[in-house]
Amino acid sequence: MIYDKEKLVQETSEFLATIHPDDLMDSLYCSVIDGDWEMADTERHRWMKGGNSVFQTIAHGLTKIVLFPKDMQDVVVKIPFIGINEYAYTENDDLKLVGRVDFSGLKSGDYCERESTVYKNAVQAHLEKFFACTEYVADALGFVPIYASERCDPFYSDGMTNRVCLSALSGLDVPNDVVKVLARQYWEDELMDLEAFLLENNVSDLHEGNWGYGKDGKLKIIDYSSFCETFKD
Ligand SMILES: Nc1ncnc2c1ncn2[C@@H]1O[C@H](COP(=O)(O)OP(=O)(O)OP(=O)(O)O)[C@@H](O)[C@H]1O
Ligand SMILES: [Mg+2]
Repeated sequence: MIYDKEKLVQETSEFLATIHPDDLMDSLYCSVIDGDWEMADTERHRWMKGGNSVFQTIAHGLTKIVLFPKDMQDVVVKIPFIGINEYAYTENDDLKLVGRVDFSGLKSGDYCERESTVYKNAVQAHLEKFFACTEYVADALGFVPIYASERCDPFYSDGMTNRVCLSALSGLDVPNDVVKVLARQYWEDELMDLEAFLLENNVSDLHEGNWGYGKDGKLKIIDYSSFCETFKD
């Protein structure tokens, strides 16, 4: 993955500096309401939506914020959420903070850090072609860790109706449309190795949104940090 690191840090830092420091720190906690594992659409998180003159798109899931720089089409910037704020509605329909989970309390650290560790392991196992590279870049503004990841196109099913008779990946919850594409693009032996690696590294949560097409048109995993619902790992 080749990109201008200095520029990436500068653009990201300048953008983060436009957010009020109190809001920034608070918004690095993902918010959920009434135990619903969907990120709540709060005022504080508005900057994570849409785009601006530097980042064409800003996306997020439950564990990371993802920025797409306009002038660096091969990378995305990933920023880990620090944790989750759990809210509940009161009788008056106000939101009340009822709990806070700190991801740094997890053995594996933040979710981007976990991704970069899994990637390093994948390189050692010669399986890196199955993963969009994620690596640590710097702490923007001195306290917001930013990571770079190889930009991929979102997964789509190409509509080909190949019957899949793979035993590889059957031990993991990978969507059928994803398996169909993998079965055409890779050898079964390679997929068996991938499955063993994913199990060994506790990589789960491999829904369609966590796969993407690399520049060479091959399918790979773009989110391999998994998700720890109990936060006890
Ligand atoms: N390498 C990438 N290339 C292109 N888009 C990406 C990449 N990584 C992430 N994205 C986009 O950003 C979104 C959020 O990133 P990611 O899946 O890593 O975060 P997450 O918070 O762990 O997601 P979730 O917990 O919802 O699965 C993805 O669903 C995808 O749309
Ligand atoms: Mg994801």
